[in-house]
Amino acid sequence: MPPTSPLVSPPDDESLNAACEALGRGELVAMPTETVYGLAANAWDENAVAKIFAAKGRPRGNPLIVHIASMDQLDRAASLPLEPAIQHQVDALADLWPGPLTLVLPAGKRIPSIVTAGKPTVAVRIPSHPVAQAILTRCPFPIAAPSANRSKYVSPTSAAHCQSGLGEHLAMIIDGGNCNLGVESTIVSLEVTGPRLLRPGNVSAEDLASRLKVSVFDLVSCTSERQADDKPMLAPGMMREHYSPTTPLFMIGNDVDNIPQRSKTGRIAFRKLSDDEANRYAVVETLSQDGNLDEVSRGLFAAIRQLDNEGLDRIIIDICEPIGLGRAIMDRIQRAAAGHNAKPPNERTT
Ligand code: TXA
Ligand code: MG
Repeated sequence: MPPTSPLVSPPDDESLNAACEALGRGELVAMPTETVYGLAANAWDENAVAKIFAAKGRPRGNPLIVHIASMDQLDRAASLPLEPAIQHQVDALADLWPGPLTLVLPAGKRIPSIVTAGKPTVAVRIPSHPVAQAILTRCPFPIAAPSANRSKYVSPTSAAHCQSGLGEHLAMIIDGGNCNLGVESTIVSLEVTGPRLLRPGNVSAEDLASRLKVSVFDLVSCTSERQADDKPMLAPGMMREHYSPTTPLFMIGNDVDNIPQRSKTGRIAFRKLSDDEANRYAVVETLSQDGNLDEVSRGLFAAIRQLDNEGLDRIIIDICEPIGLGRAIMDRIQRAAAGHNAKPPNERTT
C-alpha cells in the first residue's frame, strides 16, 4: 500500500469521524473487522446499500450482513421481541458476541428489503475489532457490510486488498492492519425449528452445537446439502464457486502432484516443506511452520491472492481435516478450487 494513497487512513479520531460522516452521506467505506475487511454502508439507507451491490458486482439476490456495536443495538436490525424459542438460542450464544459470529434473525422494519434480498430475515453481527467497534459506536445507524472484494473473488484481509479490488468505489479505507482471523464469520440461522449452520467460520460447529445443545450433525446438515451442486441453495449467495483466484487452484493429491518440468506451479503449504519438496515449486507460501490452523486461516486469503499475482500456471494447496476451524478452512478451499479440480491441468488453457 503506498503510504501516499489518499484513500487509506489510519484509525485515528479524525479519520473515524470522517468515516462516519461519509457513511452518513451514503458513501462506501472499507473497514477492518477481526475476520476480513468489510465494505460498509448505512444499512438504513437503501441508496447507499445499492452502491455496495454495484461496486461488488454482487447479485441482488445475495443478502448482506448488518453490523451493530452491541446487543443493546439489536433493535436497529432485528425485529424485537424475539420469539422465546429464538431468544433462547440467542441467549445460549450471547457470550460469543462481540466476535466472528453472525446470527440470522427476523428482520426489523427499518432494514430495507435490498439488505435482506426481500427475505423476512436479517443476518446480524457484532464484530470485536476495535476499529469496527469505534465506527459502529460513533454511527447512529447500523452498518451493512459484505466482504470488501469484487463478487466471487477472494476476501480481503488488508487495506491493500480493498484498494486493489474496490478502490475507485470507496470514500475511505480505514487501515486496521491485517485481519487476525482471516476467514469470514460463522453464520447460524436461528429458527423456531432449530438452529442451522449456514457458513462455517472461526466459531466452530462443535462449539455451537454444545452451547445450543444440538448435535453437530443436525446443525451442519444443511451446510453439506447446500454444497452439493444439484441442490437448490438454502442460503442465497452460498454458491459453491466462490473465493476463486484467476489461477487454477488444486487441492493437493488431486492428480496434480506430478508437476511437469518447467511448469510454473505455486504451493500453499500448511507446514514447512523439506527442501527437496519445496524445490519442485516456482513459489511456496508457508502459512505455518507446523500446521497451526489459526495461522493457516489468518494467512489463507492473502496467500491465494499473492500467488494469483505471480503469473503461475497453477496453485496447489494443502488440505486439513474438516473439523473445528478446519471445517471453515476446507469450506473456503473447496470453493476456491471448485471448477478447477474437475480437469487435470494439462487439459486446460490457462
Ligand atoms: O466476517 C464476515 O461475516 C464479513 C465481515 C465484513 O463482517 N462479512 C461477510 O459478508 O462475509 P458477505 O456478504 O461476504 O457474506 C454474507 C453471507 C452471504 O453469503 C449471505 O448469503 C448470508 O451472509 N446472508 C446474509 N443475510 C442472510 C439471510 N437473511 N439469510 C441467510 N443468509 C444470509
Ligand atoms: Mg464475501
